[in-house]
Amino acid sequence: MRIPEQKVEEILHSADIVDMIGQHVQLRKRGKNYVGLCPFHNEKTPSFTVNQDKQIFYCFGCQEGGNIYKFLMNYKKISYVEAIQEVAADLGITIDYEENRSGVLSETEILYEINEEAARFFSNNLLKNAEGERAKIYFDSRKIKIATIRSFGLGYALTKRDALVDYFVAKKIDINKAIELGLIGRSEKGALYDRFYNRLIFPIFSPNGRVIAFAGRVFETSENMAKYLNSPESKVYFKGRILYGLSHSKEEIRKLNSAILVEGYMDLISLHQYGVKNVVAVSGTSLTDDQVQLLSRYTKNVVLLFDADNAGVKASMRSIEILLKQDMNIKIVSLPSGEDPDSFVQKFGKDEFVNQINRAQNFMEFQFSIYEAQGKFADPVTSAETIRELIKPIGLITDELKRSMLIKSLAEKFNLREKLLETETEKILKKIEIDAKRTNTSPNTKAALELIEQDVSKREKELKPVIRVEKELIQFLLDGNPKVIDYIFSQIDLDDFYLLEHHKIAALIYDIYKEENYFNVNSLLSKLEEDNLQKYCLELSIEKYRVSDKWDSKHVVEKDKNSLKHLNDVIKKFKLFPLEQRMKEVLAEMKQTADEKSQLDLMKENTELSKEKKLIEQKYS
Ligand code: CTP
Ligand code: MN
Repeated sequence: MRIPEQKVEEILHSADIVDMIGQHVQLRKRGKNYVGLCPFHNEKTPSFTVNQDKQIFYCFGCQEGGNIYKFLMNYKKISYVEAIQEVAADLGITIDYEENRSGVLSETEILYEINEEAARFFSNNLLKNAEGERAKIYFDSRKIKIATIRSFGLGYALTKRDALVDYFVAKKIDINKAIELGLIGRSEKGALYDRFYNRLIFPIFSPNGRVIAFAGRVFETSENMAKYLNSPESKVYFKGRILYGLSHSKEEIRKLNSAILVEGYMDLISLHQYGVKNVVAVSGTSLTDDQVQLLSRYTKNVVLLFDADNAGVKASMRSIEILLKQDMNIKIVSLPSGEDPDSFVQKFGKDEFVNQINRAQNFMEFQFSIYEAQGKFADPVTSAETIRELIKPIGLITDELKRSMLIKSLAEKFNLREKLLETETEKILKKIEIDAKRTNTSPNTKAALELIEQDVSKREKELKPVIRVEKELIQFLLDGNPKVIDYIFSQIDLDDFYLLEHHKIAALIYDIYKEENYFNVNSLLSKLEEDNLQKYCLELSIEKYRVSDKWDSKHVVEKDKNSLKHLNDVIKKFKLFPLEQRMKEVLAEMKQTADEKSQLDLMKENTELSKEKKLIEQKYS
């Protein structure tokens, strides 16, 4: 199944990015742009910018950017195809799919289909194959009903080492893609084998319910074998961005405006079977920022329900910080020792489980009781340190009111003056702020712009002005005005771009414009492979308006960027640069050479260059 390329374009052109993003992010107009608080990182002043003319967004804080498809993919953690479908649905456009199985667009779609095929295979093994009887017996021993097995697509991987290989070969499935998905392995000698065999299978779903990966549990746990084998990351599966069970739980989470966070697959499945359906599982990894971001789309209220062992407590402590950073409200349930949510609900039933949830502690009480159990309040010195530990997470909360309430309750608990605690919190806040600044300026994803400039400043300082000029020229091109693009390409020589990166961008724009007689940043972005260059172009496309402290559109400072005079000035400087470079070289060579003939040639060249320089100066003034 494939969406025709033309349709993708049509949908993109019919959509309005401000409208669509506006459904998720509160935007306000500022100059030519709309700005809001970035949904992709935590911020207090808006650097998330949407440009309606160009139909792109870009965050100056975290460098996330692209078109509406990219936004939806990241925001909803969905695939490209799903993003297109979503926009189409919003606009009421129906998509006629092509049957054709090839094409760039369908690549992830093919991966999904292979996963779905595998899921079907595993499920049939369990439900319809005689060998699957032992898996039925296993799930039965764990009180999992057939209806639950069906609902979560649970399956069984046969003991034969190449059952799935045979099945895929018979179905003419692209084996290399199955290898990419970690379903099939290839030995050094080239033999194909099933990566999942002799295991109970748990398909892992995207939030929209598509199969993106698998976990396989051994029947009997043993020391020398991992209990679960998981699919590797792939184009459709990013471990840290997935919450197991979200596809099954999202409605209920919305309805109850609360989510229970557990550790394991079995915990989640068991709870569902008992009618507790607002659950998600972190499964395997420690909780990530991305997972919290995903969950926060559905609710801000989380009940942590980790196992009552040491690892569980540690995981809870770590998770608390990650959740607080995104302003989630956290409650914590500590189950009786030795129990996990699955065993607890099986043993005590739903009502008792719900009781536990209702008696959840707030996160500070929880941390307090843990520290207390560790004897940390026994003497005054460790006690003071521990209080500092308790305050630390409070510093992560951006909501001031919430923060001061927590400080108040902490003060009451320890009979301390609130002022004292506030000072401590202040200190921590300062540190957090400094840390944040540090990571913001670290070069990890900072736009190519800076990387290029740093690199260049190492090479030669004098290049800075020309780079600025080239940047401005590219900005003019990125604006997409056909007249301007025609004019620029009629005046300049592409080969005169000094920076390789600039040359590449300009040449691509040229190609696109030549071919389509039309140019828009979006078509450029899809053709730029390097992430860095994409970000760079987004950053150049969306002018960051400098805003005074007054914070309204009247105070926006805009350069007079659109005048022909300005453009001519830029072109002039652009053309002069290579000339001037050559002139410098000529002068240097003249000094060095003693040969009269060469001297003469150089002088001639210098005169030519001077003439040319004058011409350019006149033409573009
Ligand atoms: N996990 C994993 N790989 C392992 C062990 C655990 O990915 N080798 C992940 C799984 O997502 C598992 C979760 O960590 O569900 C919790 O582990 P554990 O409590 O050991 O497993 P349970 O889910 O409780 O599984 P069961 O009840 O079947 O033993
Ligand atoms: Mn368990």
